[in-house]
Amino acid sequence: GAAVEVDISALKVGEKITVEWRGKPVWILKRSPEQVAELPKLDGQLADPLSKRHPDEFTPKYAQNEHRSIKPDVLVVVGICTHLGCSPVDRLQAGPQPSLPNDWEGGFLCPCHGSTFDLAGRVFKNKPAPDNLPVPPHMYLSDTRLLIG
Ligand code: FES
Repeated sequence: GAAVEVDISALKVGEKITVEWRGKPVWILKRSPEQVAELPKLDGQLADPLSKRHPDEFTPKYAQNEHRSIKPDVLVVVGICTHLGCSPVDRLQAGPQPSLPNDWEGGFLCPCHGSTFDLAGRVFKNKPAPDNLPVPPHMYLSDTRLLIG
């Protein structure tokens, strides 16, 4: 399939854009430094915090790090739940909600069966989704030009 080039120069902190790659929605999210700093603190609550499972399929080598991305602030993931393929929704500022774990910092929630993902697309423990949201193959052509595929 054709690679997709994306200009992220206008992407603001907290903003998420979706681009289509091979018929799939790819999310590009710019995280704040505080959100990036929170990520390692969640490791104990996650099913696969270091993205070691099926690395070929879900997390390329260059994203096997604490922030699960090439640039620490910019997350690039396929927005399709690894359970049965629903589209998770943004819960960037979840706040306390009865149906969600109190300690959930926000991220993404799959409306189909309740899997929750953090701001690196890492799935929380004991959820139906077996794996983290996939990181698609990608690279930077320049500081603000991203090539997906
Ligand atoms: Fe996402 Fe089932 S499809 S939890």
